Amino acid sequence: MIPPSADEPAVSLRGFRPLDVPFVSGLVAEALHEHYDPSLYSSLSYDWPEGFLIAADPHDVPVGFLLGVNQVEHEARVLMFAVDRNHRTRGIGSRLMDVFLERARSRGLRRVTLEVRVSNATAIRFYTRYRFSVVDLLRAYYSDGENGYQMARDLG
Ligand SMILES: CC(C)(COP(=O)(O)OP(=O)(O)OC[C@H]1O[C@@H](n2cnc3c(N)ncnc32)[C@H](O)[C@@H]1OP(=O)(O)O)[C@@H](O)C(=O)NCCC(=O)NCCS
Repeated sequence: MIPPSADEPAVSLRGFRPLDVPFVSGLVAEALHEHYDPSLYSSLSYDWPEGFLIAADPHDVPVGFLLGVNQVEHEARVLMFAVDRNHRTRGIGSRLMDVFLERARSRGLRRVTLEVRVSNATAIRFYTRYRFSVVDLLRAYYSDGENGYQMARDLG
């Protein structure tokens, strides 16, 4: 959707590798305020490895990721999605989402769902731009008690 700008160092997208776990769990703690067992990431990538995308700088240092799963028939779910604070608003999140939606389409999936904190206006705006809309309110969905929205869109 947004082309990388000429003055930014190139960021490329690749698949998740077990060596990415420290980066991913650090970003999940910092940006999503959640803490999971490190073994979770490899096990979640097992069924659909192409759904777990890493954005990396020219030195292959990760700067963002999108972890999607396909646990419900015909449906992709964005489980976790974040870009390092110092690399936001440069189109990296959009590139991750564009490639993820394309991979979900190629897999024959028809719908994508996700959950987001009700207070996360930045992410809600981002998802709205991607034609996601709120389909449900999830009470005390997060480990700290905050409510969530479930958002969804069709893959057309
Ligand atoms: C949500 C998130 C992943 C988006 O990542 P990002 O890399 O900043 O995303 P982008 O740069 O593609 O887009 C962000 C905004 O910057 C704008 N933008 C992108 N490139 C731009 C550029 N070169 N110049 C100006 N604006 C630009 C986009 O239009 C977009 O605006 P919008 O969301 O209001 O439509 C990021 O904000 C994040 O990690 N947040 C914390 C974790 C989080 O909330 N994750 C979602 C949990 S459900």
